[in-house]
Amino acid sequence: MAIDPNFEENCEMEGEEHGVAVWGPTDPPETLGIRGTHVAVDFDLCIADGACLEDCPVDVFEWVDTPDHPESEIKANPTHEDQCIDCMLCVDVCPVDAIDVDPGRAGRI
Ligand code: F3S
Ligand code: F3S
Repeated sequence: MAIDPNFEENCEMEGEEHGVAVWGPTDPPETLGIRGTHVAVDFDLCIADGACLEDCPVDVFEWVDTPDHPESEIKANPTHEDQCIDCMLCVDVCPVDAIDVDPGRAGRI
């Protein structure tokens, strides 16, 4: 399974957390939804591999705590998605395809 690249159409924006949009449905702590818009991370897929944090040339991602989530207790939040230069490295390196980046999708909160 991979992040749904059409989440904007298929998911409802429920609000904002850690500076980015939250796309539901969510049911914390087990179900956290997709975070971010231009740079989107499916928190329910993220296993805290960390490659996206290491490789992003402009430091878009920051760790956030997600205690009691079944996959991992920290997640890569696209806090600085407005700085993304669309290099797509994060999309390529994530081992669970949790990230989708679309230059045509504006960040929104
Ligand atoms: Fe960084 Fe990914 Fe954008 S690596 S520059 S957030 S495409
Ligand atoms: Fe998570 Fe993938 Fe990054 S597993 S920490 S989104 S490389």
